[in-house]
Amino acid sequence: MARSSRIPGFHQMTVEERIRAVQEFADLTDDEVAILGRSAVLGMETAQRMIENVVGTFELPLGIVPNLIVNGREVLIPLAVEESSVVAAMANAGKMARSGGGFFASTSGPIMIAQVQAVGMSDPFAAKIRILERRDEIIAICNEQDPVLVGLGGGCRDVEVRVLDSSVGPMVVTHLIVDTRDAMGANAVNTMAEALAPHIEKWTGGRVFLRILSNLADRRLARARCVVKKDAIPPGPHVIDGIVCAWAFADTDPYRAATHNKGIMNGISALVVATGNDFRAVEAGAHAFAARTGRYRPLTKWEKNADGDLVGSIEMPLAMGIVGGATAVHPMAKLALKILGVTRATELAEITAAAGLCQNLAALRVLAAEGVQKGHMKLHAKNIAMMAGATGDEIEQVAERMIRGGKVRMDVAREILSELRKA
Ligand code: MEV
Repeated sequence: MARSSRIPGFHQMTVEERIRAVQEFADLTDDEVAILGRSAVLGMETAQRMIENVVGTFELPLGIVPNLIVNGREVLIPLAVEESSVVAAMANAGKMARSGGGFFASTSGPIMIAQVQAVGMSDPFAAKIRILERRDEIIAICNEQDPVLVGLGGGCRDVEVRVLDSSVGPMVVTHLIVDTRDAMGANAVNTMAEALAPHIEKWTGGRVFLRILSNLADRRLARARCVVKKDAIPPGPHVIDGIVCAWAFADTDPYRAATHNKGIMNGISALVVATGNDFRAVEAGAHAFAARTGRYRPLTKWEKNADGDLVGSIEMPLAMGIVGGATAVHPMAKLALKILGVTRATELAEITAAAGLCQNLAALRVLAAEGVQKGHMKLHAKNIAMMAGATGDEIEQVAERMIRGGKVRMDVAREILSELRKA
């Protein structure tokens, strides 16, 4: 009989009970079950306070990228990522960018937008004006919801109203423009939007449905730029034309732009995860911003300056915080913030933008020069060597001989390993 995923009371079970239920459902062995139910760093207690139905925690490697300078400050970048080459590539590109003084980054400030959607009014344009007449009252209602944020110098700053044409008729959408200081701010702005909703219904005569932040955080932009001197980029200055050409390709073709931006997000998402921030929010914002002109485009730009040096820049929304949420409770996230040495959310966003630009530099350089497979093959060969049973120095030796022979395969690795051991 097919097993049912309807497990009454699952959320009320203890971790052990839940694990047993999953074991039964999925025929897990005792060895497999032993992977669940424990957590060295986060701790099962904390994990259970963060999400529901916890049975374990999920580890990712945490790597440190050296070599970056952001706004004149030497920084180490912690990345939590499963993909090989991301850390090494960024370290290489960071070294290249030192030739121009590293990365220079800034932000538009920690400003989030919350949306309140009203429908069903007969006079949407007049309703818009009625809302805007109450701008000061709206700001006061919003700020009453979060005296702590206001005490820290944040709070609702402005109100905007848009009338949208939709398949269900006109919509009056009120935007709350909120300075969330060092928090990502989702909770703060959602509370404000919900508190305002009945007032909006009264003023518009319409009905409010959605009250939620927008992840197109285009008031919370982070920007970075760098110059790579022409003699600091291997294999030589000619690769600069290839990089500019690679960017032009992405700027003209969404198929390429998606991959270009994926490379940027290799750096950004890994840092967002390492600092306990909401990577889905950052990703949604990044891609919506990339498509804001109606065509999906790259988040970076690459040019050649009058001296023949390579100049890169990035601008994108980065809704990241350093207080609240996982940043406050996850020991690894707290440690990541300490390693980064950041004291403000805006500073974290600046470094993250620099990380994205740096990662993109690494990817475009390798694509315009030797291609990605050479580096990947080295790592792949090492993995195959390990899977074939190589340990210690053997790993490097087996991998090297496979690459030299042009055959990176398990059977070849086993053969080389047995030869090595005989010798
Ligand atoms: C791979 O994770 C990322 C790249 O594909 C990015 C790019 O093509 O620009 C190398």
